[in-house]
Amino acid sequence: MGEVQTIGVVGSGQMGGGIAQIAATSGIGAIAFDVHQTSLDKCRKLHEKLMGRAVEKERMTRDEADAALGRITYTANFDDLAGADWIIEAAVEDMKLKGELFAQLAGMFDKREDVVLATNTSSISITEIATAADKGAAGAGSRVVGMHFFNPVPVMKLVEVIRGLQTSDDVVNRTVALAERMGKVPLRANDRAGFVSNRVLMPMINEAFYAWMEGVAEPEAIDGIMKLGCAHPMGPLRLADFIGLDTCVHIMDVLAEGLNNERYRACPKLKQLVMAGRLGDKSGHGVFEYGK
Ligand code: 3HC
Repeated sequence: MGEVQTIGVVGSGQMGGGIAQIAATSGIGAIAFDVHQTSLDKCRKLHEKLMGRAVEKERMTRDEADAALGRITYTANFDDLAGADWIIEAAVEDMKLKGELFAQLAGMFDKREDVVLATNTSSISITEIATAADKGAAGAGSRVVGMHFFNPVPVMKLVEVIRGLQTSDDVVNRTVALAERMGKVPLRANDRAGFVSNRVLMPMINEAFYAWMEGVAEPEAIDGIMKLGCAHPMGPLRLADFIGLDTCVHIMDVLAEGLNNERYRACPKLKQLVMAGRLGDKSGHGVFEYGK
């Protein structure tokens, strides 16, 4: 089993695009796949912009940036993923979609048992995804693992490595090694709702919405208190906008269901903003308003 040469990244949004970028800057080939050509075009432009900025800041030479960009191929053809020897899925957080995808990927790599099928899910059970892979090809579930990156991917050092019930030791160890090769710090967690990151982060964000709803302080003060008093780079409400308020509600729902505890219910204030279409940065308005 040789070193990973090419990572197939499923989904070219913010997370998938970031993963493809750091693969390429670490010397690994990346196949960025998305069903939407517009998303691929946007992703390519962002890669060019971010690499250009890295050259301006003298973090890499123009030749290095060009070589990294040359390592990424962008495709809307699912079959092109067969050229990869490692998959990282970063599609939308929808179990039905992920189930179908992992069954298909398991079929694609049925004869290549060294190909790991990783998912960047932030909340869906790795065990459930592995079970879907097993349906595509018996035994493929042992090659499914959680590889949870953080936004912005090129900046955040962590990869949370999550093992499902079926995940083999070898796959976990190889995932840790690949994350290190990509310049990240891998830390392991087991497959419980929210893993560690969102189990701890999301209730704090949710509590900030309660503090706002109950009039404890205005959003600017809540965020300022957490930034200046607790050294958080962003306040919890600004961070909620950055993550997406709909995503925050979704993760709270997963925690409430998975941990079977009402204390994880999403705050009504958070849900209300989502109902009003205020989703955060991506809609231009969440807790705070953002210029176009
Ligand atoms: N892509 C690439 N690089 C980016 C970037 C992006 N989207 N956004 C910022 N950067 C880079 C900048 O280029 C800059 O690089 P430089 O030092 O080389 O110039 C560096 O990050 C710092 O950026 P800025 O100076 O513009 O701004 P800040 O110093 O305010 O940092 C931040 C921005 C890194 C986003 C910082 O505010 C931060 O760390 N925020 C917290 C982010 C966080 O908590 N992320 C986790 C979210 S939870 C998650 O992802 C899990 C999911 O399951 C919900």
